[in-house]
Amino acid sequence: MKELSVVGGGVIGLSVAWRAAVRGHRVTVHDPEPGRGASWLAGGMLAPVTEAWPGEEDVLVLGEASLRRWPDFARDLAEEGVDPGLSPHGTLVVALDSADAGNLEMLAVYLTELGREVEQLTGRAARRAEPGLAGSVRSGLLVPGDLAVDNRRLLHALEHACGRHGVEFRHETVTGLDGFSHVVLAAGAWTGRLHPALAGAVRPLKGEILRLRPRRGCLPPPRRTVRAMVEGRPIYLVPREDGEVVLGATQYEAGFDETVTARGVRELLEGAERVLPGIAEYELVETAAGLRAASVDTMPFIGELGEGVFAATGHHRNGLLMAPLTADAAVAWLDGGPLPDEVAAATPSRRSEERV
Ligand code: GLY
Repeated sequence: MKELSVVGGGVIGLSVAWRAAVRGHRVTVHDPEPGRGASWLAGGMLAPVTEAWPGEEDVLVLGEASLRRWPDFARDLAEEGVDPGLSPHGTLVVALDSADAGNLEMLAVYLTELGREVEQLTGRAARRAEPGLAGSVRSGLLVPGDLAVDNRRLLHALEHACGRHGVEFRHETVTGLDGFSHVVLAAGAWTGRLHPALAGAVRPLKGEILRLRPRRGCLPPPRRTVRAMVEGRPIYLVPREDGEVVLGATQYEAGFDETVTARGVRELLEGAERVLPGIAEYELVETAAGLRAASVDTMPFIGELGEGVFAATGHHRNGLLMAPLTADAAVAWLDGGPLPDEVAAATPSRRSEERV
């Protein structure tokens, strides 16, 4: 049994804390506001395929390795008492003009070549799948394996599970690592301040996100996650079981600024209306901005930084997706075993290679 301190109580920190406590370790989570931050604002997509960009195959492989763990992770959490709300409905990417349709076709070819399950749809077939889609939708790409989870239920489930296994919560900001015997750094965009090996490696990447709810008489929300490029910007609409829709997200390099701007809200709403016109009549129930923990190569840092210090950060747009694999890796480290092979490409030591 070891003493583990986890710095950061977002989805990564809580997942590590829970899994480590289940293994019998004594765990303390340090976070002034656990269960908040970027994890509280996330869309909840578990979507390695539709987040994939050519040239980022390592991210795709890592994401898929974690997605494979998600069903067991969700089941284990539900058995702890709170179901995190894993949705099985897949993802539909739609094209609004001929350039988008061409890009979608290239994406389909790229993903098919990589052996990923995707289905190309005509505009009509896409509307049959999601009747609220605009008449202007030209084509679609259905990705049944890209799932979603209710981020807020997930956080509640993790906090509950941590509580059941005796995890202690200290509502404080950690600024130095003296006095910790084993520590996992999972402080998201702030992690770069905690260890010299991560200084400058993890940066904040601002995202604004909205929540909307259909009013009486409105067209219902989509059943599955719907994604599109609008004016060159990616948007996504992720339905929640209670009828709410999460609409995200802008992406800006803006330092640690967490202000919601009029422009951000306007871009998201205009984009969503182009895809799902009925959303204009929905109630706008929440606007928020959060900070992703971005890295230069969009890969996270998962691995030992030095004696007793483990990095679990830099998950970019994929924190929720990569939580189960990151937790497995951190617990394997704590137990003194080898890390799962799948995280080799996420090693923090790649930074020193970068500098050579
Ligand atoms: N995971 C989607 C985003 O970061 O906006």
